[in-house]
Amino acid sequence: STEEMEARVREIKKELGSRLFMPGHYYQKDEVIQFADATGDSLQLAKTAAANKEAEYIVFCGVHFMAETADILSEPSQTVLLPDLRAGCSMADMADIKQVEAAWEKLGETFGDTILPLTYVNSTAAIKAFCGRHEGATLTSSNAKQMLKWAFSKKERILFLPDQHLGRNTAYDLGIPLEQMAVWDPMLEKLEYEGNVADIRMILWKGYCSVHEKFTLENVKEVREKDPDVQVIVHPECTFDVVQAADENGSTNKIIEVIRNAPKGSKWAVGTEMNLVNRLAQEERDKTVFSLNPNMCPCLTMNRIDLPHLLWSLESIVNNEPHHIISVEEEIRKDALLALERMLMH
Ligand code: 13P
Ligand code: SF4
Repeated sequence: STEEMEARVREIKKELGSRLFMPGHYYQKDEVIQFADATGDSLQLAKTAAANKEAEYIVFCGVHFMAETADILSEPSQTVLLPDLRAGCSMADMADIKQVEAAWEKLGETFGDTILPLTYVNSTAAIKAFCGRHEGATLTSSNAKQMLKWAFSKKERILFLPDQHLGRNTAYDLGIPLEQMAVWDPMLEKLEYEGNVADIRMILWKGYCSVHEKFTLENVKEVREKDPDVQVIVHPECTFDVVQAADENGSTNKIIEVIRNAPKGSKWAVGTEMNLVNRLAQEERDKTVFSLNPNMCPCLTMNRIDLPHLLWSLESIVNNEPHHIISVEEEIRKDALLALERMLMH
């Protein structure tokens, strides 16, 4: 039963003590997040993983790229486990290293040495390593603006991987007009752009988050029509039109801060993953908090990590046969680390 599983998780956590560390992303289910030793957005979790030098086992409650990041930033003696290997990220899977290398070569023919690659942490370790090797860095939705500024201080153009929406929304925020942004289509291996290519400053990889793309301009119009007092806050992985129509946008951490600090009685339609929206609705009882899309938009891969998988992972440690170890090979790890360190310096 659930109670038995919860009791066993508590028991194992007590038994392992500081030998175990369990970070959890805000999108995780309540049944999992209740046991997390630290919760946070992608940036906070990366920092937490880098800071913990003590735990022998890091059981990562999140998705594959986050566990890889934890492995890259942790000590060689620390073992990172992901309770369910199917917990991937469809966006990270949209940029394959072979495709990126092919794109880099073609773009080089047009733009020479004027491009700096930046990758959202929502990417494979191989993509982070690619950025590390080419003077680039990683970024998260919390520091995207800062990192873009840094990148533009180094080179004229940015190749932004793999989320076109975060790239477009952030660049626009920095004052770069849409006319100076092109989309790279990895399937057709070409730029989607009308105009003089010399004007391009942002090259956006044609990836997106299948969860956040489901929030539409129509949703924003509907909630506003129903109740003009409702404020709309969305994650910058949402499309450009949705972010423009919203009152505010930001990382999961920013969304939480804004709603926690909002006045009593305020009403919020939130464009991000369902588990976080539901949790905020539960916690902020003196406000009205609901999903911008009535269909709720769960991240199915985040939700792969559930109580049974968590317990199974913990039992594997107790039995001295840790399962689902995430281990990035050394060649990739060292270059990916460069890209992550350039971000963590900021
Ligand atoms: P943040 O937690 O950095 O806002 O990222 C959201 C996300 O989509 C994680 O997969
Ligand atoms: Fe990937 Fe989107 Fe799920 Fe985040 S919410 S893990 S970006 S699919």
